[in-house]
Amino acid sequence: MEEKENNTLSEFAEAMAGNEELREETKEFFAMQHVYAAAIKEITTKLEILDEEFHIKYDHNPIHHIESRLKSIQSIYAKLKKKNLPLETEAVKENIYDIAGVRVICNYVDDIEKMAELLLKQNDVTLIRIKDYVNNPKENGYRSLHIVVKVPIFLAESVEDTPVEIQIRTIAMDFWASLEHRLKYKSDEKVSKELAARLKVCAEKINAIDKEMQHIYKEIKE
Ligand code: GTP
Ligand code: MG
Repeated sequence: MEEKENNTLSEFAEAMAGNEELREETKEFFAMQHVYAAAIKEITTKLEILDEEFHIKYDHNPIHHIESRLKSIQSIYAKLKKKNLPLETEAVKENIYDIAGVRVICNYVDDIEKMAELLLKQNDVTLIRIKDYVNNPKENGYRSLHIVVKVPIFLAESVEDTPVEIQIRTIAMDFWASLEHRLKYKSDEKVSKELAARLKVCAEKINAIDKEMQHIYKEIKE
């Protein structure tokens, strides 16, 4: 495995050495990735600050934890192809909003909307798209709040308004989504249909539990 990677890497280095154009494109791609990575940091920090404030003021942590990922070059390439777009950084910037991805796992259902609201209220955060799968779950039972925002990234010579896809959900919704995601890799159609139906029942039970946990938490606090 390692040897194979080394081979690929040295082949890549060789190709780069003799190809000025490829080198420029690679540089441009790394520069773009740097900006998206910075946007993940900005959004994560904003959310952590809000969570800390809630802890100090209300003895409550709305956020259980935060995950993030930068879309790989392979996935970006696949998405451009699927959308029939040119394989250029310009096309990426204008059409793909989920290069920077942040997943916010909340403790309780009400924390989801609260966190989204407080983030969107900030002057430097602009909403681009919202999909409320919490109040309007998908047919398969999927629940989460998806928002795409733009946040300015201050570079040496420019300011880049950078999109970040933020998925906000409870621990229980996250538990469900992780298992449901695995269903995509199941090839036996008859089996996967049956499993999908059972997962949908789980989604409904999870929703009822999420609501009841929220009520109990409120009553304990009162
Ligand atoms: P993509 O092109 O797949 O990113 O979808 P989209 O641009 O239509 O956006 P949407 O907001 O619907 O979904 C974005 C992301 O949310 C997906 O890439 C998944 O990570 C997650 N997601 C959406 N629907 C589901 C679902 O039914 N099950 C699970 N497990 N995850 C989902
Ligand atoms: Mg996506």
